[in-house]
Amino acid sequence: MSDEDNFEELIADYLQNNIGISLNFLGDTNCQNLISNLKDLYANKHLQDAKTGKGQKTLLNQETRSDKIFWLDRLHENAIENTFFDLIDHFIRYLNQTCFTGITGYEFHYAMYEKGSFYKKHLDQFQNNSNRKYTMIFYLNEHWIQGDGGELCVYKGNETENISPINGKCVFFKSSELEHEVLLSNVNRMSITGWLTA
Ligand code: OGA
Ligand code: NI
Repeated sequence: MSDEDNFEELIADYLQNNIGISLNFLGDTNCQNLISNLKDLYANKHLQDAKTGKGQKTLLNQETRSDKIFWLDRLHENAIENTFFDLIDHFIRYLNQTCFTGITGYEFHYAMYEKGSFYKKHLDQFQNNSNRKYTMIFYLNEHWIQGDGGELCVYKGNETENISPINGKCVFFKSSELEHEVLLSNVNRMSITGWLTA
């Protein structure tokens, strides 16, 4: 599939189900590169405990979430991160052209949920800041099997749906609307999570 076929699959699924899933959005090479980059960063202790909230309200709140993160940035001049951002730039152009979404920016971080980590039920918009419009998550777990845990649980009215964090999968939803949580992970669980902003 071409990149635009993946974009189309993600957007069509989102429009139909309020949550879009594309199974191989990143492609195998990107996945492998991002995994090895994340593993290196983790081994060299560059990941930091994730916090909740933003600006002055930032809290280290390990009862809410216990993942470790590292923000990607073009300023790192890392070819793997830049290739990822090139794909995101292309996706945003496509999304803005086809859906008139008016996205003007983004922020993405790697996340490592060590064995025993979770992220309790939440929305991705902060009370004092509504610039996060869409959430995008990419899973980087080559050997995930049932029982490893760490599923993304999304709340749809009274019902919930569990999404397995399988390698290459991309999940897309509106940040202000969809409550979700990361179930307890029984193994190290890797991903990139980010937000399209306006
Ligand atoms: C988040 C989040 C979900 C996931 O970082 O806000 O909800 O599946 N992540 O990693
Ligand atoms: Ni979230």
